[in-house]
Amino acid sequence: MSETASPVLKGRRLTLRPFLPGDVHDRYLDWLADPVVNEYSQRRGAPRPTAREAQAYLSGLAEGEAVLGIHHPEHGHVGNVKFGPVDRPNGRADISILIGEPAVWGKGVGTEAIYLVSKYLFRTEALNRVDAGSRNPAFIRAVTKLGWKTEGVLRQRIGTPEGYKDYTLLAQLAEEFTERPEFEQAIQD
Ligand SMILES: CC(C)(COP(=O)(O)OP(=O)(O)OC[C@H]1O[C@@H](n2cnc3c(N)ncnc32)[C@H](O)[C@@H]1OP(=O)(O)O)[C@@H](O)C(=O)NCCC(=O)NCCS
Repeated sequence: MSETASPVLKGRRLTLRPFLPGDVHDRYLDWLADPVVNEYSQRRGAPRPTAREAQAYLSGLAEGEAVLGIHHPEHGHVGNVKFGPVDRPNGRADISILIGEPAVWGKGVGTEAIYLVSKYLFRTEALNRVDAGSRNPAFIRAVTKLGWKTEGVLRQRIGTPEGYKDYTLLAQLAEEFTERPEFEQAIQD
């Protein structure tokens, strides 16, 4: 992970900071194998990794690639958001997110985390475009609320035990990004 890809990002409620090999904990390993958490993920059905495997993955991230832990004031580490590697010639990066702690689902955590990472990529890394693909309706809703646009639907792209499911490609351009006070740190008196 490069210096420029190790940000600490503070929002209204959340702090995002690099999730390092030494931060791996049992609950995190459980999330990676939880069928509910991974219902819409390519990881669905994958075995629980060992701590060593998870640490090796985090140690092997490429230049300009980062996994940030999402820290909630009451629930602690609730998930991770990943971006990169940064595609410098095309001024873009992919992001993905996994919130493992079900107590915080549907309470705006995913939206705030995606907002903070997008803002970092546009404003600090000066990228022109942030991309993601998902078949999770909650993810699609969260990024759409932030002004992302659907750019395509890969029809029946993902095979699941319930049949073939569509996969939606979404992105935001730098010129479409707007600051959202509801996700910014409150100004101290
Ligand atoms: C997708 C995910 C990040 C959403 O996080 P979250 O903190 O629950 O998201 P938010 O609360 O910020 O926003 C979710 C929105 O989707 C809505 N939503 C939830 N389930 C939905 C569904 N089945 N259909 C449509 N909208 C749904 C919520 O009501 C909310 O919208 P609202 O604020 O207008 O009410 C989280 O569930 C997650 O990490 N899931 C597992 C991994 C994954 O699938 N990642 C996405 C692929 S990159």
